[in-house]
Amino acid sequence: MTDTAIAWDTYARQRPERRPVNARGETTWFNWTQYEDHGPGAELLDVAAGARVLDLGCGKGGNAAHLAAIGMRAVGVDVSLRQLAAARERWGQAPGLELHHAEAVRFLLEDREGFDAVYSVYGAVWFTDPTLLLPAVRERLRPGGRLVFSQRPPVEGCYGCQASYIPRGPDEDPLVVKRWDYEPNAWEQLLAEHGYMDVRASVLAPPAGARRVGTLVVTARA
Ligand SMILES: C[S@@+](CC[C@H](N)C(=O)[O-])C[C@H]1O[C@@H](n2cnc3c(N)ncnc32)[C@H](O)[C@@H]1O
Repeated sequence: MTDTAIAWDTYARQRPERRPVNARGETTWFNWTQYEDHGPGAELLDVAAGARVLDLGCGKGGNAAHLAAIGMRAVGVDVSLRQLAAARERWGQAPGLELHHAEAVRFLLEDREGFDAVYSVYGAVWFTDPTLLLPAVRERLRPGGRLVFSQRPPVEGCYGCQASYIPRGPDEDPLVVKRWDYEPNAWEQLLAEHGYMDVRASVLAPPAGARRVGTLVVTARA
């Protein structure tokens, strides 16, 4: 197993399952943000039932399961076996949902069918060198298909490849994964340089209350 997969398996152990129902009483839903019951939904993908959609770094699978529940062919990929085991246990029987153990760029290079939309929620797009990932996604998107991703906005002055620490026990060093942080305008430029159109990047405000950190949301078309 790679160091990255070990790190994400460790992370998986620390993360809770998605709630059984959301505040509206729904059993499946799409959430782009780090806050419950907050922000836009699957409409950002601009696809209809029957579309083939790809979740890069699907984690425990809640968003992909929602897309399958509303009639899409949802494909989730993740490097963490532990994340995928949780996804299979909760959503494995859902018609229209496919889960793959794979690294995102490798999966994109090997896929032969293509996708109507590709998305990532605090997922592989955040944790993969964009100069490798953005061309690979564009290659697999149908013309006009959307790439949409969300992640935490950068800390001011900390741009490009950054270290994310995954804590372990008191006597163990934390594990490290790399992530790529940019301001919205830098993401817009990067995507345009890789041939994407209609690129929009902005920071969605957090819900009312004490929290100050919003969510960076980026949409673009191939
Ligand atoms: C912060 S979690 C988010 C999971 C999920 N999208 C969610 O919203 O709960 C990041 C996920 O991306 C996966 N991941 C990170 N880099 C990846 C890569 N290069 N290829 C595939 N999966 C990756 C990790 O294993 C982890 O499950």
